[in-house]
Amino acid sequence: MIQLALREIRKKGDEILNKKCKEVTVFDKKLAILLDDMYETMQKHDGVGLAAPQVGILKRAFVVDIGEGRIEIVNPKIVKAEGSQIGQEGCLSVPDVWGDVERPNSVTLEGFDRDGNKIEISGTELLARAFCHEYDHLNGELFTDKIIEEK
Ligand code: CO
Repeated sequence: MIQLALREIRKKGDEILNKKCKEVTVFDKKLAILLDDMYETMQKHDGVGLAAPQVGILKRAFVVDIGEGRIEIVNPKIVKAEGSQIGQEGCLSVPDVWGDVERPNSVTLEGFDRDGNKIEISGTELLARAFCHEYDHLNGELFTDKIIEEK
């Protein structure tokens, strides 16, 4: 049995959150443990998404769970984005800030699972929003720079 571990969430002001992440090239047990730890950490803090740089790892991977089950993707690319939606976002790295952000209403990602198999995932509404928010983290971008109206 693998013992899961909570990781420290980096907060806004930590420069690691502003850096561009590197592609994952090795799909090993270390990556699997990272993804498990990220999911555990996200759930512990009642988040709906968490990207690797938020736990101090500059790798292109994130986990999402909007209440419909666990989704994880490595080296994601947005291959389709359609429509638009405006809705409220928050971030575990930016406590106590909430604001409206415009996102595509429908997003399709291509990437890899933890074993290096190619996957494609689509989401609409909240799921599409979560994908875009986490994807931005991989490029060193925070939602606070996209807020239309702070709540
Ligand atoms: Co975030």
